[in-house]
Amino acid sequence: MSSLLEPVTIGGKLSLRNRVVMGSMTRNRCVDNYKPGPAQVRHYADRARDGVGLIVNEGTFVDWTGCDWKYAPFMITEDHAEAWRKVTDAVHKEGGKIFFQAWHAGRVQHDQMPLMKEMKGRVLAPSSIKAEGGKYRDLPGLPGHTDNVEAIQDPRIVVETYRHSLLLAKKAGFDGTELLAQGGYLPHQFLNSRANKRTDDYGGSVENRCRFLLEIVGAASEVFGGPEFICVKLNPTDFFNDSMVEFEEMKETYTYLIKKLVSCKVGIINISRRGADLHGKSSDFYSLFVRPEGYPVPKGYDPVLDFGSLVKYPGSPSMLMANHDYMVEEANRLVKEGKLDLITFGRPFIYNPDVISRIRHGVPFSENDRGNDVYYGPYQTPDENYNDWPAATI
Ligand SMILES: Cc1cc2nc3c(=O)[nH]c(=O)nc-3n(C[C@H](O)[C@H](O)[C@H](O)COP(=O)(O)O)c2cc1C
Repeated sequence: MSSLLEPVTIGGKLSLRNRVVMGSMTRNRCVDNYKPGPAQVRHYADRARDGVGLIVNEGTFVDWTGCDWKYAPFMITEDHAEAWRKVTDAVHKEGGKIFFQAWHAGRVQHDQMPLMKEMKGRVLAPSSIKAEGGKYRDLPGLPGHTDNVEAIQDPRIVVETYRHSLLLAKKAGFDGTELLAQGGYLPHQFLNSRANKRTDDYGGSVENRCRFLLEIVGAASEVFGGPEFICVKLNPTDFFNDSMVEFEEMKETYTYLIKKLVSCKVGIINISRRGADLHGKSSDFYSLFVRPEGYPVPKGYDPVLDFGSLVKYPGSPSMLMANHDYMVEEANRLVKEGKLDLITFGRPFIYNPDVISRIRHGVPFSENDRGNDVYYGPYQTPDENYNDWPAATI
């Protein structure tokens, strides 16, 4: 039986030196014109040098956006691609692999954010329905997400927006892409009857609600030379950014979607169990977010194990990856039992530049002892709380 530190090959094409994946994490530190600089090169290279199997870069916008992270990166221009090339080269030099996380905020943004005004950006969504929540610290009165939401006329044009960005990502040297389809962002908005009230081929039935994401998967597979290089990140029990739905809708949507993704031979399906509340209150960062009333999930329900059987069966072309509140023992056991192929650790990679060495030598992960500014700032320099975490003495 395999264990976490054993290698794996995805779809016969993408070889990883182990099954541990550094999850995508927005750190709001691309201070040089929305692109990575020396701090990001060092951050990702350090983690690759320690031996992580795969890195997913921080969520990177595929179009101009008015999201509330003003130093999150974009992949729209050649300039962006050149800057990311320095990161991918550094990761490859250390023997690592890196995926590009494609992010489109959809309705989860504000049209009054300075960049949106400058770029004349439009807030696009499946339907013209405002997302509840949000708090824009840079706008007077700290408003929530905008109500100036424009229903997309032809979703195929937005698929082309993705393709443009993915082509640049490929040029920048990324080994594949993770499509962000959770968190209440655009692909998730299409999946969800709360945000999607369309009456055309992209709304209504489950098949129609899944169409937009499946078309992006198709475009991404063309760009990267096959579906093996595509990962789709899903969170069936999500409630972030006004994305919660009734349990029955969730089951129906993700049963259909995951079967379709496997039939497309997508390399990795990354399922989050956020919102399922398996361990009681989540520690640290996630304790700030509370599931809204009226959308219960049965106690002990685990979406990874529930939908996992649709991905993991003899002869399946797709790998199952999981994330959210896993620790090494549980992840290793699930891999050994054949219930998981890959594991994402997110927060541990923030505070531990040496996750793989610690796993190898049985050294516990360090925890965050510096407070919540660690995640998105503020900071004096981008390296602060980013490239200054000590490795364990082994
Ligand atoms: C500071 C921070 C930023 C994050 N940003 C992203 C992101 O840009 N895209 C994404 O898909 N997930 C994002 N996540 C979620 C992580 O990728 C991961 O799925 C989650 O933290 C669960 O893993 P963990 O319990 O090991 O931290 C973020 C998490 C944190 C803590």
